Amino acid sequence: MVTVNENYLLLKSSYIFSEINRRVEEFQRKNPDADIIRMGIGDVTRPLPEAVVEAFHRAVDEMAEEETFRGYGPEQGYPFLREAIAENDYASRGVDITADEIFISDGAKCDTGNIQEIFGLDNVVAVTDPVYPVYVESNVMAGRAGPADDDGRYSGLVYLPCTEENSFIPSLPEERVDLIYLCYPNNPTGTTLTEKQLAEWVDYARDSGSLILFDAAYEAYIQEDGIPHSIYEVEGAREVAIEFRSFSKNAGFTGTRCAFTVVPEELEVPDSSGRMHSVRELWNRRQTTKFNGVSYPVQRAAEAVYTPEGQREIRESIDYYMENARIIRESLERAGLRYYGGVNAPYIWIRTPEGMDSWQFFDTLLNDAEVVGTPGSGFGPSGEGYFRLTAFNSFRNTVKAMERISELSF
Ligand code: MLT
Repeated sequence: MVTVNENYLLLKSSYIFSEINRRVEEFQRKNPDADIIRMGIGDVTRPLPEAVVEAFHRAVDEMAEEETFRGYGPEQGYPFLREAIAENDYASRGVDITADEIFISDGAKCDTGNIQEIFGLDNVVAVTDPVYPVYVESNVMAGRAGPADDDGRYSGLVYLPCTEENSFIPSLPEERVDLIYLCYPNNPTGTTLTEKQLAEWVDYARDSGSLILFDAAYEAYIQEDGIPHSIYEVEGAREVAIEFRSFSKNAGFTGTRCAFTVVPEELEVPDSSGRMHSVRELWNRRQTTKFNGVSYPVQRAAEAVYTPEGQREIRESIDYYMENARIIRESLERAGLRYYGGVNAPYIWIRTPEGMDSWQFFDTLLNDAEVVGTPGSGFGPSGEGYFRLTAFNSFRNTVKAMERISELSF
């Protein structure tokens, strides 16, 4: 008889953003006239940059002609895009990453979810708490996490709390950990680490033989100096870190799908006999078996992000979202709500009012302001008592949502 992968039974019944959608749809059914403003999932609203659209069209036309048609591309991505990334995202910042250390994919969600499968099941996994749920749930599915307690804390994972009390800066783990997921600028708290703070993690990983899985999907939102855009800006990081990047949040590719993962050549992990194996080769082996690459037109579209025109346009979109973030911050201040983030990240992390938990605050905003956000508890036990808003809606809707929230009394 077919049996289930019992690790799946350890998961919460639904993924946080699916659960929110379910509740919002139910609310909309009951209130068909409600003008709901969605500031829950971090999905962009601005259209693709013109430079990107033009390159996309041109590549589709190439696919329509016998002479320029392309079938399967390289599983790792086309050299034109890998080279553009190495040059523009890394070399231009003085960071040494070569094109063959870059793997193009259809999303940082997939890559951060899939990466764990090349590592042994006995590795101890550390996550910041709150955290992007994909890191936790992909390890639950693999069998590394064990059962969860009533707060949703898995017994086999090491949680690094990030709360007001420690200014959302995780402490180095007290116990031995092997794989460490870090996301900066942070989803969901919108906070960042300085180069010095990140260097402590790199040094820790080098001393303890652990590996950092660094999600930098929001790096384009960094406005201030002294905050690394890549973990490889920190000395020694090439030996201990994999980095995940995405075109979703900087160039509007949430629906178009393109991202990349950087696996430096010198990263190695031992097998049980102590023999070392190249992580880049392991990831390449995984990808060539399970992935057939991102479509040619999408990769040409992503390449156009690096043209001067593309750069100008993505900067405009980021400025637009960051102006939304400013409006959200100022309105929350006026409403007397404490908040964090929204300065170097498109997320604003709100302390829920006294006596209200995350889901109660969600219900209040949905019922009384018709505004959707994400309850902090959906990101982990230490997210209870917090609530996330995104700056990704339109300027008009953001202003409207904040006017409605300002009218509520907390
Ligand atoms: C989020 O809202 O946390 C993100 O949009 C989720 C994602 O990028 O997959």
